[in-house]
Amino acid sequence: MSVITLSIDGQPVAVPAGSSLLQAVRAAGIRLPTLCHLDGLSPVGACRLCLVQVEGVSRLLPACASEASEGLQVQTDTPELREYRRMAVELFFAEGNHECAYCVANGDCELQDVAVTVGMDHSRFPYRWPNRSVDASHPLFSLDHNRCILCTRCVRVCDEIEAAHVWDVAERGAHCRIIAGLDQPWGEVDACTHCGKCVDVCPTGALFHKADGTAEKHPDRERAQHLRRARDQHEWQHR
Ligand code: SF4
Ligand code: SF4
Ligand code: FES
Repeated sequence: MSVITLSIDGQPVAVPAGSSLLQAVRAAGIRLPTLCHLDGLSPVGACRLCLVQVEGVSRLLPACASEASEGLQVQTDTPELREYRRMAVELFFAEGNHECAYCVANGDCELQDVAVTVGMDHSRFPYRWPNRSVDASHPLFSLDHNRCILCTRCVRVCDEIEAAHVWDVAERGAHCRIIAGLDQPWGEVDACTHCGKCVDVCPTGALFHKADGTAEKHPDRERAQHLRRARDQHEWQHR
C-alpha cells in the first residue's frame, strides 16, 4: 500500500494513496462538519459544509469529494471557511420548514448538530416557508419534504447498498425534491423492499418511521458503512 504525506492546518499527516481529503483531515484528528457525506456511500460534495482551502488552488474544495495528494497544504479552519459554513447552514434553515420543536428528529438531528458546530444562533436570510407536502403512503415510513435538505443519502443508500433504486432527484432550483419511483406515492413503488435503510441514514426528520413522535427518531447512521464493509470483505457467503 503506497502512502502519501500532506499537511493539514500545518500538521503533517500520512494516509493511504487514494484517500479523500476528508479522510486525511480526520487522520489529523480534526472534525469537519459534514451533511451529505456518510461513510459507506459514494461522495457527492453536495452540501459544501466540508469545504477546505488548498494552497495554490483558487477555489474552495469539498474535502469529502476531493482526493488527497502528496505535498498538499490544506487549511480547514480559516475565517473565510467559517463564514461559508455558517452561511450554508443558515441557508438550509431558511429554505425549508425546520420547526424543530415538532420534529421527529429533534435532539437527534445532524442539521441541528452542525448549526451548533458552526455557531449559528439565527439565520440572516429571510425564511422562504415553502409549501411542501408529506408522503404518508408507505405502510411503515413517511417522507416530510419540509425537512429534506437534499443531501441524497437516501438516494445513494437505496441504490448502492439496497440496490432497489427507489429514490431520485427531480426538478431544479427551488423546486428540486426527491421522488420515489416515477414520481409516485412511495407506497405504490413496488421496488421498495421496506428495508428502512433510507430512514436510517437521513440526517434530519425528513424520512421517519410512522410510529415515531416528536423527538423519537433514532436513526442508525452507521448501518450503511457496516453493510458496505461486510459486502466488500465478502463476509456473507452464498451457498
Ligand atoms: S425502505 Fe429500503 S428499498 Fe425502500 S426506499 Fe428505503 S432504502 Fe429503498
Ligand atoms: S429525505 Fe433525508 S436523506 Fe433523503 S435527501 Fe432528504 S434529507 Fe437527505
Ligand atoms: S460533506 Fe462534503 S460537501 Fe457535503
